[in-house]
Amino acid sequence: MRFFIDTADLDEIRTLAATGLIDGATTNPSLVARSGRRFEDVIAEICAILPGPVSAEVTALDAPTMVAEGRYLARIATNVTVKVPLTPDGLKACRELSGDGIPVNVTLCFSAGQAILAAKAGATFVSPFVGRLDDIGLNGMDLIRDICAIYRAQPAFKTEVLVASVRGVNHVIEAARLGAHVATMPPAVVRALYAHPLTDKGLAAFMADWEKTGQKLDVGNSKPRAAE
Ligand code: G3P
Repeated sequence: MRFFIDTADLDEIRTLAATGLIDGATTNPSLVARSGRRFEDVIAEICAILPGPVSAEVTALDAPTMVAEGRYLARIATNVTVKVPLTPDGLKACRELSGDGIPVNVTLCFSAGQAILAAKAGATFVSPFVGRLDDIGLNGMDLIRDICAIYRAQPAFKTEVLVASVRGVNHVIEAARLGAHVATMPPAVVRALYAHPLTDKGLAAFMADWEKTGQKLDVGNSKPRAAE
């Protein structure tokens, strides 16, 4: 399962890219606005930090302009994935851009029917927003279960499920269990995946016991001293 980071905050991206566990990034107009930076500059810098797919969303609502914007965004870097909304115009643009060989992430997906349309439009990724379904009292992961089952039943569909609007580690764990291809998550969720109080407690105990031995590994010695 691939992890994408869902932010346009370059410091966060640099820090978490250094873990070697981040396979790409997703942005959207709200995240770019939050960065306070020029859109094209942010995307170019993210693409320079992360070699994997970096989603940059079109800002138009009509297919011809979406296509023109998508081609423009794709010229920023070779790892740009163009994001389009799941609307009739968005899927027309998806069909044309993917026909040009430009990878497309169809976003704002909230139903299995929409996900079927995205696959038929040749999307590289479809982004179901699980957190926003949870927000209205539904279970977003039920949608992921449906889409993964439908895509598995349709071998002609080449679209990958990119779980988005991830709000916590349980979304990531369940997405992995269901066989989703990618989860995109805010930096805080990446960090939360590492965290467990028993890990901290166990490590503190190991270090305390090691301290009591008074030993120190002589890492500068190329040949560790054999036991006497
Ligand atoms: O990738 C989509 C994501 O940024 C939306 O998340 O928490 O605003 O639903 P959220």
